[in-house]
Amino acid sequence: MGTADIIDGKAFAAGLRERIGSAVTELKAKYGEVPGLAVVLVGEDPASQVYVRNKGKQTLESGMASFEHKLDASTSEESLLKLIAELNADRAVDGILVQLPLPAHIDSQKVLDAIDPEKDVDGFHVVNAGRLATGGDALVPCTPLGCLLLLRDRLGDLSGKHAVVVGRSNIVGKPMAALLLRESCTVTVTHSRTADLPGECRRADILVAAVGRPEMVKGDWIKPGATVIDVGINRVDAPEKGDGKTKLVGDVDFASASKVAGAITPVPGGVGPMTIACLLRNTVEAACRRRGWAMPEL
Ligand code: GUN
Repeated sequence: MGTADIIDGKAFAAGLRERIGSAVTELKAKYGEVPGLAVVLVGEDPASQVYVRNKGKQTLESGMASFEHKLDASTSEESLLKLIAELNADRAVDGILVQLPLPAHIDSQKVLDAIDPEKDVDGFHVVNAGRLATGGDALVPCTPLGCLLLLRDRLGDLSGKHAVVVGRSNIVGKPMAALLLRESCTVTVTHSRTADLPGECRRADILVAAVGRPEMVKGDWIKPGATVIDVGINRVDAPEKGDGKTKLVGDVDFASASKVAGAITPVPGGVGPMTIACLLRNTVEAACRRRGWAMPEL
């Protein structure tokens, strides 16, 4: 038992954004153009509005072009699909991101699958999910990609390690498992029906928690020395801070887990900041592939 090293995702993401900024400057000097990212927001979900604002801001800060499309909550599926078709055809647009969740009257998968897979910087299109699962050249979902970059930075070669992923969502759990398998980890995917979740977690050299349940993973679920990646961002009441106050916590009980783990990501400041940095990285990658540019080292 000791004290885990803190994996500083905020600092790593800042470094990655800086490298992306330099790469964009280089591309502009070499080819006279910059990558462009289109972000589509339907409706007024407050969390989505914050994400979309940050995405646009960081896109511009990195020197890339940002195209924001804010549509009314009552927008029909048909007109959203028409916008996607226009963005697919627009040569200044290298990446298209449709912010989720979409209003209930719109079929999200139908919209995601209407995006040109070569512009699918979220990696949510079935073609990219299929390419990732079969070892092809996929655009990889941003959050699991961010987790992988932190793991590689901490551990180097991941081959032969036992990785346990808690959660099986299409956005995080499944692509995370596919990425870890691609790194030659032995991968266990657990979920709400897993018989002995603490026991499965205890076998993990690498534990990735992505279930959306505040502080569910306890310290005694963790193998001593394991690397713990906490993807959860849960807002909970914080009466200790005063009446009506709230705070953000992860899916891992940080206080107990950090006494057992070798290294752990905090919430906030761990995986969260990596997601938008990886979105920018994917936009550069999509631009280089589409335009036949040499991909800069990132
Ligand atoms: N909503 C929450 N996370 C994400 C994400 O990674 N991509 C998109 N498009 N929407 C989200």
